[in-house]
Amino acid sequence: MQYNGIKHYSNVVIAVRYDMPEVIIRKATRADKAEITSFTRNTWEWGDYIPSVINFWLREKDGMVLVADIGGRPVGMLHVKFLPDHSAWFEGLRVHPLYRRRGIAYKLNLSALEMLKEMGIGRVRLVIESSNKPSLNLATKLGFRKISEWIALEIKQSKIENRLTNCVIRIKMDEVWDVVKESEIYKLSNGVMPVRWRWIKIDKDVLRIILSRKKWLRRIRCIEKLGLFAEMGYGTLLCFSNAENKEELIRLLKGIKNLVRTHKSKVFEIQLPKGHKLAEEIKEISSDVTTFFVFEKGV
Ligand SMILES: CC(C)(COP(=O)(O)OP(=O)(O)OC[C@H]1O[C@@H](n2cnc3c(N)ncnc32)[C@H](O)[C@@H]1OP(=O)(O)O)[C@@H](O)C(=O)NCCC(=O)NCCS
Repeated sequence: MQYNGIKHYSNVVIAVRYDMPEVIIRKATRADKAEITSFTRNTWEWGDYIPSVINFWLREKDGMVLVADIGGRPVGMLHVKFLPDHSAWFEGLRVHPLYRRRGIAYKLNLSALEMLKEMGIGRVRLVIESSNKPSLNLATKLGFRKISEWIALEIKQSKIENRLTNCVIRIKMDEVWDVVKESEIYKLSNGVMPVRWRWIKIDKDVLRIILSRKKWLRRIRCIEKLGLFAEMGYGTLLCFSNAENKEELIRLLKGIKNLVRTHKSKVFEIQLPKGHKLAEEIKEISSDVTTFFVFEKGV
């Protein structure tokens, strides 16, 4: 394997730049799992979620994993998910630390965009944390346009003391749509809303598909307020609510806590679009607040 190397001659160190070997973009197979796991394990200080999802991604029917291959070995990856609004979602972009700044991520994205064009998919979206400058630059270079800004607020479950049990979970689809389309979140996001960590253009039909998959979003109503939430590996994610103040939100969280009590989750995470009136109110009880940008590109 060739890469920028360092050669040692007694006490002299000479940096050597080898020519970049050919990078091939191809669909990943199960045989790539070990290499992918190895170069993604320590992406961030806390690790990475890729090793825990890669098995699933390699088997799923409504998505594909692309890898950048050098000499038969994957050194970069991108997961593309096909969503019910006929858009595609890009996530899990990773390049092996020794192979960065050589155009591999750019090439992976361009190949994915070409494939989507051939498949007749017209729109692709992705989300980037506001502090991830390399990814923000890459998205701009690829011609993505920022469409919205979101915050994710983390609240420790221990802060939500009592459980509330008189909540409803069998809520009719029509009722959910009526609440969603009139909500502040829907208006602030122009209808492109998070379903777990993927943003989808929501209309009544798309919402019906999403709600038919319990693993994607579950619903709950606690005294006139609706919540759509998902159980994630790290905790419970509230993707949507029409709570208008802190009290209404906490009531919903108590209801959700009752539903997910067997789950080991320690935190609630609440996604809100920038400018939502609840965001400032709940910052004071949040242990962590992160900002994200959602990008979109026509294919
Ligand atoms: C982000 C990441 C995928 C980029 O991979 P890469 O192969 O090094 O990127 P490329 O060489 O294709 O760079 C393409 C463009 O991205 C931007 N970019 C990439 N790395 C950058 C850096 N360290 N600083 C600033 N801009 C950077 C530049 O605009 C670059 O174009 P340029 O070379 O003409 O300036 C890689 O750094 C990585 O795996 N990071 C950790 C995981 C991560 O953040 N994933 C994205 C989550 S949204």
